[in-house]
Amino acid sequence: MTAERPKLLFTGASGFLASNVLPWLAESFDCIGVSRSEPGDETSFLAAREQADLTDPTAVKWLLRNRPVDVVVHAAALANVDACEREPAAAYRANVAMTANLVRAMTELGGNARLVLVSTDQVYNGPGPHAEGDVAPINVYALTKLWAEDWAERYGNALTVRVNFFGFNGRDRSGLAGWVARSLAARERITLFDDVMFNPLHTAHLAEILSALIARGSLGRINLGAGGRGMSKANFARLIADKLGLSLDNAVVGKAAEAALAAARPKDMRMRTDRLEAELGRSIPTVEDGIELFCAEWLAAATAHELEASGWR
Ligand SMILES: NC(=O)c1ccc[n+]([C@@H]2O[C@H](COP(=O)([O-])OP(=O)(O)OC[C@H]3O[C@@H](n4cnc5c(N)ncnc54)[C@H](OP(=O)(O)O)[C@@H]3O)[C@@H](O)[C@H]2O)c1
Repeated sequence: MTAERPKLLFTGASGFLASNVLPWLAESFDCIGVSRSEPGDETSFLAAREQADLTDPTAVKWLLRNRPVDVVVHAAALANVDACEREPAAAYRANVAMTANLVRAMTELGGNARLVLVSTDQVYNGPGPHAEGDVAPINVYALTKLWAEDWAERYGNALTVRVNFFGFNGRDRSGLAGWVARSLAARERITLFDDVMFNPLHTAHLAEILSALIARGSLGRINLGAGGRGMSKANFARLIADKLGLSLDNAVVGKAAEAALAAARPKDMRMRTDRLEAELGRSIPTVEDGIELFCAEWLAAATAHELEASGWR
């Protein structure tokens, strides 16, 4: 007799993170994806796909009653930092109220399902790398994500993962790394910030780590940053350009602090990974490891036209 696979509900199934990690999670879990928008290509590896507005408490209750699961990975959010700053009420609805709806419904159902809340490195400020207790939100997005974390803590049976990530989903090539590669290949003028430090994980590494933490039954708040020292966003782009053989002639170096952005940005979002390493008993891939993987994926998928247009050597 084969053991039944655990069931996992992933909110934000139409988003960038989902497009990268859901195929991975679907190898170990029966995954049900949910978002407001209609299912796209991602449905093929999902056990089921649902459409719901999770800011509606009734819809959330209905969903969880009709789709009983072992784990809820809550990634749905208003993840645009500037949009959150411009529309704080929308940020509150999407990031806090939506999480509260899930926590209330999961509590009503007995609290046995594990909640995995996807949070962010934007909750930090000041010189990094930051330990989990080091929070100091400086924008609406970070504040609303911290309030969401408090809801997860109130639920108890919850793991909050603070992430920053990049990856290659083979389709729209969105995200920071995709934007850098696409813009440089098209010889567009871009600005690279050398005053913002981070340690994002490649989404393949993130998915594998997430699966391991779920399997271990880890609880509490854990940084899911890359190992090593991290780097500035400008150096991140330089490494990608170097590995892909793309020219940086059209890239200018600038400061996030001087850019006309609606929301303030932390200058150093690097996360300490000691807790994560202790939890898994092993070291964590570095940003450089992730870039290596991203560039191999990018080159494997680039069209001949893109390679020619970029002057790829
Ligand atoms: N992107 C980053 O660089 C980054 C960095 C650190 C942390 N994070 C966190 O990672 C998570 C995923 O980010 P992402 O980049 O994948 O975001 P994304 O691409 O903007 O996707 C957001 C997802 O949330 C869904 N959603 C939004 N409002 C909803 C609602 N009312 N009801 C149901 N679904 C709703 C969206 O689907 P519909 O619009 O179709 O409903 C979409 O699937 C977020 O929690 C974010 O805070 C992201």
